[in-house]
Amino acid sequence: MIYMDYNATTPVRPEVLDAMLPFYRERFGNPSSIHRAGRDAKRAVEEARERVARLVNCDPAEVVFTSSGTEADNMAIKGVAEALRGRGNHIITTTVEHPAVSNACSYLEQAGFEVTRVDVGRTGLVDPEAIEAAITPQTILISVMFANNETGTLMPVAQLGEIASRRRIYLHSDAVQAVGRLPVDVREMNIQLLSLSGHKLHAPKGTGALVVRKGVKVVPFIHGGAQERNRRAGTENVAGAVAFGKACELACDEMMQEARRLALLRDRLEEGILTRVPGAQINGSRGRRLPNTLSVSFEGVAADSLLMSLDLEGVAVSSGAACSSGTLRSSAVLAAMGIPPEIARGSIRFSLGLYNCDEDVTRVLDLLPHLVERLRS
Ligand SMILES: Cc1ncc(COP(=O)(O)O)c(C=O)c1O
Repeated sequence: MIYMDYNATTPVRPEVLDAMLPFYRERFGNPSSIHRAGRDAKRAVEEARERVARLVNCDPAEVVFTSSGTEADNMAIKGVAEALRGRGNHIITTTVEHPAVSNACSYLEQAGFEVTRVDVGRTGLVDPEAIEAAITPQTILISVMFANNETGTLMPVAQLGEIASRRRIYLHSDAVQAVGRLPVDVREMNIQLLSLSGHKLHAPKGTGALVVRKGVKVVPFIHGGAQERNRRAGTENVAGAVAFGKACELACDEMMQEARRLALLRDRLEEGILTRVPGAQINGSRGRRLPNTLSVSFEGVAADSLLMSLDLEGVAVSSGAACSSGTLRSSAVLAAMGIPPEIARGSIRFSLGLYNCDEDVTRVLDLLPHLVERLRS
């Protein structure tokens, strides 16, 4: 199989698996236990926390381990909303967020909060001035993703951080697709809350973290023991945390070199598609984009049919469109960018990663023109 769907998930790296396995076997202690086995597990979790913190430049005490990126998003948005309810009831976000953010916001709307979803332009970028213009005296939180999962477009988070800190409003960024792929620095970018997910950077599914900067108020929504400094109760997923920490350490060491390698592969794929497949067009910003992501629309083709044809040839990609109750709905993200439905319906996301190489790109470029032509005819 040629796997080009790394934005959906990534395989657990052998080094990560090796790091976590002892915590399912002989090092099985509970970090809350006082005895040696407990202290060993506690030390492992704290080392993992340091590794996560180093990757995004925060204090280890600011890292709260969660069960996923989705949980981190929910904790940030609902936790801040509840903590600052007395100060205001307005949240600003964008029209292209992941459902973990947009549906958490919809939930809060039903509970009496006001949510402004700021539009993006054709490239998927939000204008920082439009975000600032949406601020009211009631605004308590701005939540804007770091990198879009479908198009890879990188939001102007550093500029938003400057605006949010000047206006004394918390900035949350869902950085699930960015962490481990590009430098993310919460101090430099003035980000108060940052969501991470382990399975996008070669740790297992069901691992994640929310960075909560010192002094930021977040009401916990899981109640129980005092784990995670009273911010998330429940016995820690020790092996998961260790794996996540190891994956962050590897990303720290290799990220920049890997980003350059993937950008070259992605650009060759992009150029090849644009020259060999008539009527192909790129979605999102070509300049401000994750190095591994390429979203392309093939006019006159249903993305799911192309996805299945590629799958039969052993190539795994994803489509921007979602099939729901038998009808093909085009992606909400592409619709929000103003891409017409007939174009959006033919959109495919290639997201490259660690195990892709030049031959993979060559193979896909050999296959694609014929498959698209066959589907069109
Ligand atoms: C931008 C973004 N946010 C949040 C998530 C959810 O993360 P998880 O799968 O860990 O719940 C994803 C996963 O696809 C994502 O792409």
